Amino acid sequence: MASRSGDRPANSSYKLGTQKHGEKGGKGYEVHGIIRRASTFNTERIDHLYQDPHINGVRLFLHFGDMADSTNLIKLLYRIQPEEIYHLAAQSHVRVSFDIPEYTGDVTGLGTVRILEGVRETGLKAKFYQASSSEMYGKVHEVPQRETTPFYPRSPYGAAKVYAYWVTVNYRESYGVFSCNGILFNHESPRRGETFVTRKITRAVAHIKTGLQDKLYLGNLDAKRDWGYAKDYVEAIWLMLQRAQPEDYVIATGETHSVREFLEEAFSYVGLDWRSHVEIDPWYYRPAEVDLLVGDASKARRELNWEPKVKFKELVRLMVDADMAALKRRQQHDL
Ligand code: GDD
Repeated sequence: MASRSGDRPANSSYKLGTQKHGEKGGKGYEVHGIIRRASTFNTERIDHLYQDPHINGVRLFLHFGDMADSTNLIKLLYRIQPEEIYHLAAQSHVRVSFDIPEYTGDVTGLGTVRILEGVRETGLKAKFYQASSSEMYGKVHEVPQRETTPFYPRSPYGAAKVYAYWVTVNYRESYGVFSCNGILFNHESPRRGETFVTRKITRAVAHIKTGLQDKLYLGNLDAKRDWGYAKDYVEAIWLMLQRAQPEDYVIATGETHSVREFLEEAFSYVGLDWRSHVEIDPWYYRPAEVDLLVGDASKARRELNWEPKVKFKELVRLMVDADMAALKRRQQHDL
């Protein structure tokens, strides 16, 4: 998480620890991110924040690492000595977790215990945030879902997140680590990865409107999600770590909409009819689906004084606007 921009990179490559820097105004953090080595560039979503480390006053640092490599994680914790750890890294694609369940369990589940063990082993007093997910509710026991709703995960990803949730509670209760779970419902932004349904749709809208694409292939259009704005949600995450005591919070808008409604809103915003462009490809169906998610964030409202500012319609529109603008920039650049 980049502490100043407030928008989550939403990239499974990063887990970021932060160290306060004593600056007046703003949040004033020095931010350290962990990045997986790749032979291609994979920092696109934070390039606007990144500066050459040789420049004075730089406050964002990237270190190579991996959630599967505990030796390296412990070394980084020793070196960086973070005061706050925002653990966002995961194999985070639900559909893909059915294809690579073991890897997902390793990175998404065990990755959390590797950091928590590192905190315990180094004796750091760091506050720890675990990115728990509404996918843990899966086949939901009640509507809306709140902190006390039992979990029933429906994917290897959801099951791995349940493990990570409980291990976070366990380190708090067993060792007094300041570790808390934010149970975040879907949070989207123009920086959302292009294979998640919201961004896949808004990106396609821009391409179809510009005549670069005609068809969009999707899976289940009936699934309902509680979609919020990532920028609002990152503020809630930060607030959780500023409290005197660690606790777990649901972060959601309290509204639910189907993929079909998202399509309707996004296509009609630019004067298109989605029915003329969308085709179903069963490959995108999941072996088990989460049909309905809608969160009750009253605890966060009460205790963190948190409220989502951006709701469904505005979110869809800002994502379409961003994809239209990005495409225009690319086309001008190519001319
Ligand atoms: N990705 C994708 N691609 N999803 C599709 C498609 C498609 O072509 N067609 C329909 N869907 C449906 C999925 O079946 C699902 O019901 C819904 O759209 C949302 O899918 P995603 O956008 O992939 O997100 P997700 O809800 O599975 O998971 C996201 O949110 C979680 C928070 O609740 C991820 O970011 C998770 O990492 C996160 O924990």
